[in-house]
Amino acid sequence: MGILRLSHVEVRVPDLELATAYYTEVVGLVETEREPDRVFLKCWDEHQHHSVILKMAPTYGLESVGFKVQDAADLDTYSARIEAAGIATKRYSAGELGPGHGEAVRFMSPTGHLTELVFGMEQVGNMLPLTNPPPEPLGLVGIHPPRIDHVFLTCEDVDGAFSFFSEVLDFRLTEQIMGDDGYRLVAFLERTHTPHDVAFITGPQGGLHHFAFWLDDWNQMRAAADLCAYHGVNIDAGPTRHGATRGHGLYFFDPSGNRNEVYTGGYWVDPDAEPVTWTEAEMGKAIFYYEGAVNQRFLTVHT
Ligand SMILES: [Fe+2]
Repeated sequence: MGILRLSHVEVRVPDLELATAYYTEVVGLVETEREPDRVFLKCWDEHQHHSVILKMAPTYGLESVGFKVQDAADLDTYSARIEAAGIATKRYSAGELGPGHGEAVRFMSPTGHLTELVFGMEQVGNMLPLTNPPPEPLGLVGIHPPRIDHVFLTCEDVDGAFSFFSEVLDFRLTEQIMGDDGYRLVAFLERTHTPHDVAFITGPQGGLHHFAFWLDDWNQMRAAADLCAYHGVNIDAGPTRHGATRGHGLYFFDPSGNRNEVYTGGYWVDPDAEPVTWTEAEMGKAIFYYEGAVNQRFLTVHT
């Protein structure tokens, strides 16, 4: 019972056709459905209908973020807890929020993000047969990550984000970057026994720092960087190593300015593990382990 993982992000883009071309041809996602102002996409190895929704809007940034729950009853349990925390929730029936979408609960998180719990999204398969499948379908293009991995959000009160996501939504803290003043600068939280499914960094309420796709290894990371360079994609940083999460990452921007990441590595974490702490003095290594310093864009550019 409970939250299984990050389900999807809905991202604002001013130019829907350009964004769709980028996310299908460069990132290599698969288009599953289209509305006049929204395009639904999935990673090839995901079974559910969508993990990225592009929404035509005058600006960029995060429209909403969704987490997948295991049982329909989880929606009731968490609704009650969220309401008890003083936050209003709204319930949606299957399909009400879009094609293929499941039954959902939405609420405004204390971090300023429209947040959703979803159950029972339409299953469309992972493009492979269930009997004697090959390791990967033929004909994929671009980076073609197998699945979405995590989302990195900004908010004014990271300690408050940690409290809400851990106490109300049962996320577990894996790592934290502590400011010299004793407040958290960054909190990494998980439900999948990986280093993070969602992280919060101090910044404006409701901001999107980046969302990340999983890659299976470092060679795919290198190929992703080659593809970004080939297509003239604006690379932000990497490929490099993160100190926090121990992962490898490559950051780049979509045509609207939303930051994407491809990520691999990390570690497995049990629910009883003690969180890792980084000090403010070592924040550079926590974010970019090889460089030992955070570039100014990382701290200042978000959508
Ligand atoms: Fe990340």
